[in-house]
Amino acid sequence: MKKEEIIVLLNKMTLEEKIGQLLQLATPFFEGAKSEGEITGPLAQMGVDRKDVQYAGSVLGASGTEEVQAIQKAYLEKSRLNIPLLVMADVVHGYETIFPVPLAIGCSWDIPLAQKSAEVAAKEASASGIHVTFAPMVDLVRDPRWGRVMESTGEDPYLNSEFAKAFVKGFQGEDYPNNHDHVAACVKHFAAYGAPEGGRDYNTVDMSERQLREYYLPAYKAALNEGCEMVMTAFNTVDGIPATGNRKLMRSLLREEWNFEGVLISDWGAVKEMIPHGVAADDKEAALKAIEAGVDIEMMTSCYVNHLKELIENDDVSEEILDQSVLRILTLKNKLGLFEDPYRSATKERETETVFSERHRELAREQAAKSCVLLKNENILPLKKTEKLAVIGPFANSKDILGPWSWKGKVENAVSLIEGMKNYFSTENLNVAEGCGIEAGTDEEMNEAVAVAKESDIVVLALGESSDMSGEAGSLADIRLPDVQRQLVKRIKEVNKKIVVVLFNGRPLDLDGMIDEVDAILEAWYPGTEGGAAIAELLVGKRRPSGRLTMSFPYSVGQIPVYYNSFNTGRPKGAPNAQERYVSQYLDIPNEPLYPFGYGLSYTSFQYHEAILSSQSLTSEGSITLSVKVENTGDVTGEEVVQMYIRDVAGEVVRPLKELKGFEKIALEPGEARTVEFSIEEKDLRYHHSDLIHRSDEGEFIAYVGPNSRDVKGYSFSLKNR
Ligand code: BGC
Repeated sequence: MKKEEIIVLLNKMTLEEKIGQLLQLATPFFEGAKSEGEITGPLAQMGVDRKDVQYAGSVLGASGTEEVQAIQKAYLEKSRLNIPLLVMADVVHGYETIFPVPLAIGCSWDIPLAQKSAEVAAKEASASGIHVTFAPMVDLVRDPRWGRVMESTGEDPYLNSEFAKAFVKGFQGEDYPNNHDHVAACVKHFAAYGAPEGGRDYNTVDMSERQLREYYLPAYKAALNEGCEMVMTAFNTVDGIPATGNRKLMRSLLREEWNFEGVLISDWGAVKEMIPHGVAADDKEAALKAIEAGVDIEMMTSCYVNHLKELIENDDVSEEILDQSVLRILTLKNKLGLFEDPYRSATKERETETVFSERHRELAREQAAKSCVLLKNENILPLKKTEKLAVIGPFANSKDILGPWSWKGKVENAVSLIEGMKNYFSTENLNVAEGCGIEAGTDEEMNEAVAVAKESDIVVLALGESSDMSGEAGSLADIRLPDVQRQLVKRIKEVNKKIVVVLFNGRPLDLDGMIDEVDAILEAWYPGTEGGAAIAELLVGKRRPSGRLTMSFPYSVGQIPVYYNSFNTGRPKGAPNAQERYVSQYLDIPNEPLYPFGYGLSYTSFQYHEAILSSQSLTSEGSITLSVKVENTGDVTGEEVVQMYIRDVAGEVVRPLKELKGFEKIALEPGEARTVEFSIEEKDLRYHHSDLIHRSDEGEFIAYVGPNSRDVKGYSFSLKNR
C-alpha cells in the first residue's frame, strides 16, 4: 500500500477501531488460540470484552504457523476493514534453538557471532508466524542482585552499543523489511530499567540526566541508529516520573531529539501501573498521561480502550494525537507487507524445515562455547580423557540450562552436561551423582556424592541457580550459591583434592565459600540448547575458553554496585601519600571486584609487548594509533580479547578511571604474534559536560591496553584542539 492509501484507510476508521489498534492482548484472548481465555475470567477482570479483542491491533505471544494463522484468519473474517493483526513475542536469545543468555553472548565479545545468533532466532520466529520480537534488551547493568542482568550484555556502554547494533542487524536483516526470514526488532526497556535501587526489580531509578545520557542511553540510541523498528518503555521511574508517562523522555528525547518515528509500546501493564506508582488517580488519568507521553500501544491493560474515547470527546486529548499513533501502527503493518500477506510467508513447511535445524544447533553450540568464561584454572583443565571423572551436583543431569527467557525452547531438547561428557569419557570413567538439589538436599544424596568422589581422580561440580532464580522478578539479596551447594563443595573437598566447578547461572555471583576450595571455575551461564555439548568440548580441550566477563564479579555483595568504569574519588585508596584510614575503602573487604570487567583465562598464555603510540599528540582533525604486539607464548591455540581503554585525566566533570574504547578478538597459534592497532580520534574522547553537550576537552589522556580492565599498561597523549 502507498502512504496515501494508508491515510485513506485511517480516514475510514471509526474512533473505536482506531483506539483498538492501540490495544495489545496476549494470545489466549483471541479466537483460534491453542488455549483460549475465558470471557468471564481474565477478559472481564481486565475490563475488556469480545468487541475490544476484535478491534485489538496486535497479539502478544502467539507462535507456530498453526496457531498464528488460526488467530489471524478468525480475526480477519470479522475485520470490517481487513486490517491484519501484528504478531509480537519475546524471541530474546533464540526461538526454539536456544542460544546462551545475552549476558553470556556479551562475554563472547564476538559481535559477528552475536549477529548470527539473532539471525537464527529471527529465521525460526518468522517461519513460525512472528512479526516483531521484543528484543534486544540493552539495559546497562551494574547490580547483579537484579535478576534481569542476564538479559543484558553487561556494564559497558560502548560494548552494549556494539551488541545492540549486532542484534538489530541480525533480527531485521540487511534487506529489512523485504526479507521475510527476519522480524522487526523492539529495543527495550526505555530507559534505564537496569538501574533499579537495591537491585530490586521494578524499583525506583533516579540519576542525573548527565549520567543517563553518558552511560544508559547510548545502547538504545545505537539500536535506533541501526534502524530498530520499535521501542518499549520501562516499568521504572526516570527522574520521578514512570517512563511510560514520561513526556520528557518519550516526546522530547525519543521523538523530537532522536527523531524516532516508529511504534512505541508500553511494557506489560505499565500504563495502568502509573496508578500504584502514584502519578495517576485512575485508569483515565493513566491513559491521558501515556498518550500524551507518546505511547502508541498499551500492552495488556485497558486504560486506552476504556477511556480514550471519552478523553477525545471531551477534548482532553486531540484526535490528531490518536491518529498519529494509529498511523504509525498501520505503517508498520504495511511495511511488513501484512496487508498483502498477513501470514508474511510463514508456512508449515517452512517452519518444519527451519526450526531447530542441525545448522542452527551447531551455531548455538559455537556461541555457547565462546560465551563461557574460565575464571580460575590451577593446572587442571583441560581434562585428560583417561582420567576417572565424577560429575556431581544439581546441574550434572539438569536440562534447566536454557535460561528464564527461553519461551519456546524445549527443556527436553537441551544437552545436559553429563550428555556432553559422555561424548568423551567411557562409562567406566564417568560417574554421576547429584549430591543435592539447587536449594535443598538430603544426607543420603550428599553421602552418595562423597562416595562417588572418593573413587574418582577429578570431580566436575556442576552448580548454579535454577532459571527462576534470575530473570524478571528474580532479584536476590544474597547472590552466593545456595547454602546446600556450598556445603556440597566442602564435603567433596574433604575427600578429593581436584575440583572443577562449572557454573550455570544468570548473574555474577559472590563466590564466597567456594572460590578457595576449588581448582578451576568455568562460568557457563545459561548456555542454551547445546550447553552440555559445548561445555564438554571446552573441558576436554576440543575448543578453548575465550570468553571475557562483561560484568564484574563482586568480591562480596556488600560492594555492589562495583563496576570498572567508576570514578576515583578525592581520597583514592593506595594513592601516594594516602593516609591509611581516611581513604575511600571498606575496612573489611577490598575495593576491587573479585574478577574485573574484561577478565577471563585461556588454556594458553599471551604476552603483551610494549605498545607504541604513533604520536603523543592528537588534534581534532587527526588520529593516532596505538599498536600492540600480542604473542601466544603457550603450547596451544587460543583466542585473546585485546582491550583498549582511555582515561581523561582532568575533565570538566569527573571522568571514569577507564572507559573501553576498542577491542579485538584474535586467534593465535602457539608462538604466533600479531600486532593489533587501535585508532584514536577526537570523537572517542567526547563526553557529556555539565551543560549536557557532548564534546571533548583539550589536555592529557591515558590510553591503556591489556587483557582485561585491571591488568593494563597506560600510554599518555594529549589532545590539542588547534
Ligand atoms: C517484560 C518485557 C517483555 C514483556 C512481554 C514484560 O513483563 O518486562 O521484557 O517483553 O513482558 O512479554
